[in-house]
Amino acid sequence: MRLDRFLSNLPCFNRKQVRLLLAERRVQVDGHTVSDPHHDVREFSRVECDGQLLQAARPARYLMLHKPKGCVSATRDPEHKTVLDLIAAPDKHQLHIAGRLDFNTTGLMLLTNDGTWSRRLTQPQTKLAKVYYVETEQDIGPHYAQIFAAGLYFAFENLTTQPAELQVLGPRTARLSIVEGRYHQVKRMFGHFDNKVLRLHREAMGPLVLDPALAPGQYRALTPDEIQQI
Ligand code: URA
Repeated sequence: MRLDRFLSNLPCFNRKQVRLLLAERRVQVDGHTVSDPHHDVREFSRVECDGQLLQAARPARYLMLHKPKGCVSATRDPEHKTVLDLIAAPDKHQLHIAGRLDFNTTGLMLLTNDGTWSRRLTQPQTKLAKVYYVETEQDIGPHYAQIFAAGLYFAFENLTTQPAELQVLGPRTARLSIVEGRYHQVKRMFGHFDNKVLRLHREAMGPLVLDPALAPGQYRALTPDEIQQI
């Protein structure tokens, strides 16, 4: 929704006041002063006037889920079960996913209604390590680690991946730590060697580690300490 419409929909401002507030640069969206009335306000944008939050206060929610295989990490899907179907909370439709996983990837998934928090978690500048346990079809060569550390060129995005750390655990198993979240990134990195990923499981995102007490499909609220670590 346009920012001027969002503001004038609030009971506290009329259109004239909204024009003035914007011109006086008193409105912030996600921490940045905005004077453009056309600025897009999204569902999870944080809108403030003179430092006062304008959205109705809603309790902040932070969940850790053990994503099982065979479910889509989206909040809606016409065909498949989604991670949201696993959540029982009545306000679950206000949650969004901080860092998606592929249909058959398992492991740590974080859901929240706090857009500022999830941005800190996913924005590339944060360089938060995402740690994956990987099983492959072919043996993992001794040269993989060096190539992953140097970065791989992804032609589609025209970029070179950030240095990634590979720890080889066995002939066909490894732990890979990456700081980005490009589309199918881990599969494409192993795909560079024509080595198919057969199993992929996210163990951690930065300091947040998947709780071993959570079976696939189970979730729990993050502790205050875990929330503050991001
Ligand atoms: N990389 C992938 O290829 N798939 C995932 O689900 C996550 C990272």
